[in-house]
Amino acid sequence: MFNVRCVYLNGAYVAPQSAAVSIFDRGFLFGDGIYEVIPVFGGRLFRLPQHLARLNQNLDTVRLSNPHTPDQWQSILTRLVREADGGDQSVYLQITRGVAARDHAFPADVPPTVCAYAQPLKPTTAEVLRQGVAGITLPDIRWQRCDIKAVSLLPNAMLRQQAIEQGAAEAILVRDGTVTEGAASNIFMVAGGRLITPPNGTFILPGVTRDLVLELARAHAIPCAEESFSEAQLLAADEVWMTSSTREILPLTRINGRAVGTGRAGPVHERVRQLYHDYKRAFAEGRVE
Ligand code: PDD
Repeated sequence: MFNVRCVYLNGAYVAPQSAAVSIFDRGFLFGDGIYEVIPVFGGRLFRLPQHLARLNQNLDTVRLSNPHTPDQWQSILTRLVREADGGDQSVYLQITRGVAARDHAFPADVPPTVCAYAQPLKPTTAEVLRQGVAGITLPDIRWQRCDIKAVSLLPNAMLRQQAIEQGAAEAILVRDGTVTEGAASNIFMVAGGRLITPPNGTFILPGVTRDLVLELARAHAIPCAEESFSEAQLLAADEVWMTSSTREILPLTRINGRAVGTGRAGPVHERVRQLYHDYKRAFAEGRVE
């Protein structure tokens, strides 16, 4: 089912068609839960400590307790990866506030609903990486706590859908004139010879891929900064990229129907993509943690 072979659900490993939760689950009724998406390369969970640290932070923020230690998560997720088809995977995990009579206030003493599964990660072709994809700018209609990786993603889904219907791959969100992030990605631009991404805060998700891009750029003396920028600056940039665990580092070469820079992936993207690729390969081969 959906290319998923095995689901972890509340302590059991079950076939996807028998993985069922109550309609009274608060994840279903309120979108009251936290999730993570973790890529898997060479059978290894990429940047697992960073994903688990963000998960912990998010669970604390919404007052859910983490049902598992990092070692337990590692063994659950590794088993799911082993059961999968080999090749690159993405692991989805979700913790909701569990099953309770419908009431907005948090229920007392209810065990969380915990699920996770692995599915194949579709690679981006070399052609798409060269050509890039299109984006459109849209008003950021989301709430004030976009740093929380919450299951309630209706605004993100509406924004992504609007982008798709206009022939674009991603919506680039603008709040009070300032670019925040994508509907399901972080945004970078190259301008004045520097790589720039908006600073972390309550209006963006602190992306694990974003942090790795900054780490690689700094380690290789590529000038970079975490600074706010306007929609006008974005539209005048030499390069624009989106980053996420599943799309990696993807150039946005047309925005609102107009070419970004030359209209093709730029030289800074080429350099950082190569650094990312080398790092990923070293990780997959067990040469880096
Ligand atoms: N989304 N911002 C938003 C709103 C996101 O949903 C995502 C990722 C990111 C990038 O974060 P990371 O690099 O840690 O994946 C930024 C995942 C992939 C999803 O919802 O499927």
